[in-house]
Amino acid sequence: MTAPVLPADSPDAIARAAALLREGGLVAMPTETVYGLAADASNAVAVARLYAAKGRPRFNPLIAHVAGIEMAKRLVEWPALADELARAFWPGPLTLVLPKLKAAPICDLANAGLDSVAIRAPGHAAAQALLEAFGGPLVAPSANPSGGVSPTTASHVREGLGDRLDLILDGGACTVGVESTVIALLDGRATLLRPGGLERSRIEAITGPLAIAGHSEAPTSPGMLASHYAPAAAMRLNATQAREGEVLLGFGAVQGDLNLSASGDLAEAAAKLFAALRQLDASGPKSIAVAPIPDEGLGEAINDRLQRAAAPRD
Ligand code: TXA
Ligand code: MG
Repeated sequence: MTAPVLPADSPDAIARAAALLREGGLVAMPTETVYGLAADASNAVAVARLYAAKGRPRFNPLIAHVAGIEMAKRLVEWPALADELARAFWPGPLTLVLPKLKAAPICDLANAGLDSVAIRAPGHAAAQALLEAFGGPLVAPSANPSGGVSPTTASHVREGLGDRLDLILDGGACTVGVESTVIALLDGRATLLRPGGLERSRIEAITGPLAIAGHSEAPTSPGMLASHYAPAAAMRLNATQAREGEVLLGFGAVQGDLNLSASGDLAEAAAKLFAALRQLDASGPKSIAVAPIPDEGLGEAINDRLQRAAAPRD
């Protein structure tokens, strides 16, 4: 059975979603980055169901979503730098990895048994309303089968996971379009674990230069898995023309079959990225060729997702 889709701006829908979550259900919620598949972070049975629905490797820890700073402080140690970053960028596309408090209502399965937790306050009004109504942290990875293209509309969620969850809240198309930037604040250092919807330069204006995560530790990020965010078609990057059997995803002056942003606007390109990959993939091409994207600002996150989509697959 396919899950019902309800408008995310309806107070009744939010109340229904919070009730389902309290019963251990799975609810797709819109955020400003991508749609998340939400479950009660304290409920190990619900979280196990969430991993199963996504087909996600269990060692991958999840982000605990909070309404704001106050809720965050119930989960993690809260150094001055966390406070400064959260005040500057929450609610918004920034995830902070911090030492977990022993009393935090987060089951071991949710953070893969680590002694740290990733937390973020999402910027979408419906996600905020749901977190307020639920009253505690919700884990929410992107609402798509593991390894595939992340969802930026309610119909993307329905196509991928519709029969494996209890309710989909439709809050329209995501405005940011790529996942949050993940920063670890551990051992007195700020480390970039995943580039994302908040430009690195804006964070570094507060933290100074970020350390970059090494690629050796297993559980740090799905980004550490070679293939991720992948469409069915093969991918070829930095292309200026389509070859035989290819479709071309353009940017700026490289026109293509679809263009991420004819004016070369990286925020527009990020917002359109995943929907564009899905749309081109639907025509069943052998390969999707992608125009060069400048590696600056949001281009860092776009290129990260494209490189993982193009990575060798098992
Ligand atoms: O924008 C987003 O962040 C979306 C929306 C739905 O909020 N969520 C999302 O969640 O992308 P997910 O589960 O796909 O990504 C979580 C990221 C991964 O890179 C994971 O490895 C990292 O956060 N992470 C989570 N807990 C961690 C921890 N304790 N230490 C290091 N990295 C952690
Ligand atoms: Mg994901």
